[in-house]
Amino acid sequence: MNREELRKEVEKIRWFHRIDLGGGVVTPGLDDTRAKLKRLRFPDDFTGRTVLDIGAWDGFFSFEAERRGAGRVLAVDSYCWTGGGWGKKAGFNLARQALNSKVEDLESEVLDLAPEKIGAFDVVFFFGVLYHMRHPLLALEKIAAVTKHHLILETKVDLLWWKTPAMAFYLGDELNGDPTNWWAPNVPGLCDMLRAVGFKRVEVVGAPRPWYVRLADTIAGGRFSREKFQRDRVAVHAWK
Ligand SMILES: C[S@@+](CC[C@H](N)C(=O)[O-])C[C@H]1O[C@@H](n2cnc3c(N)ncnc32)[C@H](O)[C@@H]1O
Repeated sequence: MNREELRKEVEKIRWFHRIDLGGGVVTPGLDDTRAKLKRLRFPDDFTGRTVLDIGAWDGFFSFEAERRGAGRVLAVDSYCWTGGGWGKKAGFNLARQALNSKVEDLESEVLDLAPEKIGAFDVVFFFGVLYHMRHPLLALEKIAAVTKHHLILETKVDLLWWKTPAMAFYLGDELNGDPTNWWAPNVPGLCDMLRAVGFKRVEVVGAPRPWYVRLADTIAGGRFSREKFQRDRVAVHAWK
């Protein structure tokens, strides 16, 4: 496929990730994905590592791990890839072809992941998926079972003023107008859940913004919003 043909194929797809496909073609994703790498403290080097990217969608992080030397990368998704979501799998397929990538793919629900089916991976990514889980502790148990060493997780957090472990539940579309969002823990809750499923060391690498920044952000809209004030996102690394 030449550059013009690739450009035309890219235009047919509704992208979430912005992926540099080379030759000046960058997918027009909603999400400025590369900008997230620093906050995630995404490792510079994956040489020889096996990587599992759960909830991969267009695959930015899978392709990035491969580019940084991973020996094997398996990208997993269910909802978007099987047609239920805002986007589809076409972006992942086209990016993989354009990048001449060897990233493997598996359509699977998080709760169906098991070491007997896919083995265990040196590094596991779980970015932007935990709050979509109806059963988050069970999901983390399944993820721990397929993680050999290192999990990198990014998620929405709530109840940020609460200093002991807690988790907010969303009935209907209460979180961001999206009925597929169910739960968001606070930071101590998330760290304790990770310990409860077998991670020995947990480090917060991308903390929620300080309260005064969140306050300024919520009142910039002209009206104080308690929900907006008490919610943000976090990135953590956890090791077995
Ligand atoms: C907000 S997107 C995050 C995409 C990507 N990980 C990122 O951070 O840019 C959530 C992704 O999780 C997937 N997902 C949601 N529920 C899932 C489930 N139960 N099993 C597997 N994937 C799921 C969606 O299809 C979607 O691709």
